[in-house]
Amino acid sequence: MRTLTGHPERSNGDDRGIQIYPLSFDDPVALARSLDGVSTLYNTYWVRFPHGRTSHDTAVANSRMLFQAAKHSGVQRIVHVSITHPAISSPYPYFAGKARVERALAETGVPFAIVRPAILFGDRGVLLNNIAWLLRHLPVFAIAGKGNYRVRPIHVDDLARLCVELGAGDVDVIVDALGPENPTFNELVAIIRDAVGSRSRIVNAPAHLVVLAATMIGRILHDVLLSREELFAMMGGLADSSADSTGEISVSTWIAEHGDELGRSYLNELDLHFR
Ligand SMILES: NC(=O)c1ccc[n+]([C@@H]2O[C@H](COP(=O)([O-])OP(=O)(O)OC[C@H]3O[C@@H](n4cnc5c(N)ncnc54)[C@H](OP(=O)(O)O)[C@@H]3O)[C@@H](O)[C@H]2O)c1
Repeated sequence: MRTLTGHPERSNGDDRGIQIYPLSFDDPVALARSLDGVSTLYNTYWVRFPHGRTSHDTAVANSRMLFQAAKHSGVQRIVHVSITHPAISSPYPYFAGKARVERALAETGVPFAIVRPAILFGDRGVLLNNIAWLLRHLPVFAIAGKGNYRVRPIHVDDLARLCVELGAGDVDVIVDALGPENPTFNELVAIIRDAVGSRSRIVNAPAHLVVLAATMIGRILHDVLLSREELFAMMGGLADSSADSTGEISVSTWIAEHGDELGRSYLNELDLHFR
């Protein structure tokens, strides 16, 4: 087993007997060499939002390069993590980009499985942790619109198990990766508020005000707290799905069990991926 990562120095793979290789998009030959002898590639690479010289177009081009490198190295199956509701015609570059990557994968000719999660939780996931951090630190937490749009989170362990199962298959397949619960965003925030013992007042506010507030807080934190695209996609129902559950871990139970540690420190996406 090996991992390809943009931050080899951060990986604890050595302790677990996992080989660590750089995710070197600037050197396609080295990228292909990193995949020599690999039978199945599990691809989680993507960028959450554009920043500096990195855009979703860059991420599409890099993904295509990764698939070509895998083909060149004789990889026999690619399990690719996408997102619910990807669409080439989507107004959201994240979702349109993911659809272009799915198409590029199919064109590669390597047998594949595509898994489409809506939202991830567990381990050191950014989203729930940073909602918890805000609820611990702010007297007021603003939810955009009515907050009645639903989300369908899946635990990372459930997602990993699904990926490994599909990695063992031999037919091309596309499946939504979904947990058993789909709370409204209002319900999700209330569950986190209770779990962390926050007294923050929850209010509903117009979406453009929430984007403005998130931008200002992001500037103070030197991060992108929430992009306009993420908010509007979620409000439009793209983080929900009516397909059957593939995961078993309940998000509400998990939050209740992890209230003590959730949001103790802020997870900075720019620190994680851009600095
Ligand atoms: N998080 C969610 O709620 C969610 C929801 C739906 C779908 N997904 C999909 O699930 C997969 C994993 O998501 P995640 O949130 O767990 O991703 P992540 O860990 O933040 O990143 C996954 C991979 O992409 C690389 N990467 C991320 N941003 C990058 C950047 N700006 N420049 C270069 N490399 C970058 C990371 O590199 P390093 O090795 O250097 O860290 C890592 O290898 C992605 O395909 C994502 O689209 C996630």
